[in-house]
Amino acid sequence: MEHQDTHSLVPRRGLVLVTGAGGQLGEALCEAFADREVAPLRRADWDVALPPPPSLPTPALVLHAAAWTDVDAAEDDPQGAAAVNVGGTQHAAGLGAPLVTFSTDYVFDGRQRRPYVESDGPAPLSVYGRTKLLAEAAAGDDAWIVRTSWLYGPTGTNFVRTMLRLGAERDEVAVVDDQRGCPTYVGHLAAAVRTLVDLDLPRGIWHLAADGECTWAEFAEAIFSAAGLACRVRRIASEELGRPATRPAYSVLRSGRRGAPRLPHWRDGLQACLDRLRVD
Ligand SMILES: NC(=O)c1ccc[n+]([C@@H]2O[C@H](COP(=O)([O-])OP(=O)(O)OC[C@H]3O[C@@H](n4cnc5c(N)ncnc54)[C@H](OP(=O)(O)O)[C@@H]3O)[C@@H](O)[C@H]2O)c1
Repeated sequence: MEHQDTHSLVPRRGLVLVTGAGGQLGEALCEAFADREVAPLRRADWDVALPPPPSLPTPALVLHAAAWTDVDAAEDDPQGAAAVNVGGTQHAAGLGAPLVTFSTDYVFDGRQRRPYVESDGPAPLSVYGRTKLLAEAAAGDDAWIVRTSWLYGPTGTNFVRTMLRLGAERDEVAVVDDQRGCPTYVGHLAAAVRTLVDLDLPRGIWHLAADGECTWAEFAEAIFSAAGLACRVRRIASEELGRPATRPAYSVLRSGRRGAPRLPHWRDGLQACLDRLRVD
């Protein structure tokens, strides 16, 4: 995927337009670019499945974090998911500014047992994964396509917040132990995106996920331990959970690209998230 980059420098000034600004990553991106002029757009400002409203200001940079992220619901509404993920990315690219768009470890089938790098071939198992792969193709030439995984942060719906709630209510939770990946803290991802942009690294696909790897069950145990919750984790197989969408069994992402920003270990991300939750 690495290619000779012939793009002009990204303007260091000018408007940074953030789609999905109310989402967990969108919020972290707004914070990471807070020293610049930022236009945070929510769904009410622009439904990205539709062409942009004429009133939209001209951006110098677009951070496209809006997406259909309900992996299971996408199985029942592939067209709806594609309209947001593929159509939305096409519309964001059509704004004509350099674009950062986000993709997923779910573009891989998980059969590999070594970390996936940018040059590995995608083969999504789910509707969501397929729409995100098509979205990569829709991002155009002037885009950084950031593949990341297992996102969580202090806001929104995510695994860490769900486990903190369940862990306070129950003695035991059942968590899958046959999917291995990199739980990534949105604050660390947003900082790495800032590096991509500020260093004007070449466009194309970049794998940006937390260092280290674990299963969801191991992650849950780390959450309970770090939060001082006595809840036990019962390790189960994905089959037992019976979710509509198939997830890859192994989707550890690493970058094989020169100069790739390196994210902190997922345990440091977890700590940063918990510290943030204590302050907020
Ligand atoms: N979450 C993960 O584990 C994960 C892993 C890998 C990659 N990613 C990718 O990372 C990016 C950010 O994900 P996230 O975790 O921040 O997701 P999120 O918290 O679900 O945020 C997505 C945002 O997009 C908005 N949105 C949905 N449909 C929209 C539409 N038609 N028009 C405008 N806005 C719309 C949502 O608004 P509403 O609240 O109104 O629905 C929400 O604010 C996405 O591209 C996602 O595919 C996520």
